[in-house]
Amino acid sequence: MVQKLLVLGIESSCDETGVALVQCEAGSGSGRVPDLLAHALYSQIEMHQAFGGVVPELASRDHIRRVLPLAQEVLVAAGCTLSEIDVVAYTRGPGLAGALLVGAGVACSLGAALGKPVLGVHHLEGHLLSPFLSADPPQFPFVALLVSGGHTQLMRVDGVGRYVLLGESIDDAAGEAFDKSAKLMGLAYPGGPLLARMAEEGNPKAYALPRPLLHSGNLNFSFAGLKTAVLVQAQKMVAAAGESHFENLPRALQCDLAASTQAAIVDVLVRKSLTALQETGLNRLVVAGGVGANRHLRQQLNEACAKRNIRVHYPELHLCTDNGAMIALAAGMRLQSGIQAASMAYAFDVKPRWPLDTL
Ligand code: KG4
Ligand code: ZN
Repeated sequence: MVQKLLVLGIESSCDETGVALVQCEAGSGSGRVPDLLAHALYSQIEMHQAFGGVVPELASRDHIRRVLPLAQEVLVAAGCTLSEIDVVAYTRGPGLAGALLVGAGVACSLGAALGKPVLGVHHLEGHLLSPFLSADPPQFPFVALLVSGGHTQLMRVDGVGRYVLLGESIDDAAGEAFDKSAKLMGLAYPGGPLLARMAEEGNPKAYALPRPLLHSGNLNFSFAGLKTAVLVQAQKMVAAAGESHFENLPRALQCDLAASTQAAIVDVLVRKSLTALQETGLNRLVVAGGVGANRHLRQQLNEACAKRNIRVHYPELHLCTDNGAMIALAAGMRLQSGIQAASMAYAFDVKPRWPLDTL
């Protein structure tokens, strides 16, 4: 008989505290996607906005305040009690050391108090598997485009825990390129979604911005130069208008630069993804991470892939950015596939830097 496991997942790697409950089938090896019973999220974005970016110490302290009430909330929503939890999972890395320590500390204390095992999860594995919770879940194998605030990677994914890195950013991540360009335009942190909104009103061809490493012959990315190009263009526009700040320019001009910036980032992401699909011979693409919420990226990928008979899968919009559901899911899928057992050793460590292909 299949043993059902109730897994509590805790995410605290950056500025979102997320908690979720999934139910999976222990070591069944079945390809069934674990059931998401409940999840709850608290975003600290407003708190960090005053500082123009995430303040690690404030993030850690706020995780401490939020994590237990969120755990209580998901238990109530799922109609479960603490004692029914079979495994406590948490994000072990990569991320901010102090923030990770809060989730790891709470998870291991809870596990020890309940006498239940714990399991440390890789944050990017959570993102990568999150499309399995969507209405149109993928099947292995596939190429994954991981585009978050801290990482931009193309991976070949043959199964749970079977990840081969095909290429990655040699400097800034795609999300960072969005956020840093947005900051130059006077938008609040994290500027990615705000820049994307302005881009919808602008002309993507208004300004010719560089597409770094587009013809590099490999699957690596580089976005650090783009923000300099955006800065130079913004300065030219401000000078030409005889203004002192970019924010004082007519909105149409601001939107044109936003649209041109977004187009440059998306163009590189789409073209490299297509090359990765061609080189691996795979016909399935999975997009994950915060930038995966970008409408223009989805539109361009959908169009390009439809022409080539390639299926594209995304996480549900609300699960693109950090959340607890993806951590509970990744733990559930690991336990189910039998590649990892949860541990009764409660001495925890965190891994602020942790390459996914070393799992
Ligand atoms: O995956 P995520 O929540 O955090 C990390 O693990 O890093 O990704 C956050 C990133 C931020 O850089 C944010 O600006 C970006 O995702 N982002 C977007 C959009 N929504 C979130 N970038 C462009 N367009 C969006 N709609
Ligand atoms: Zn993330």
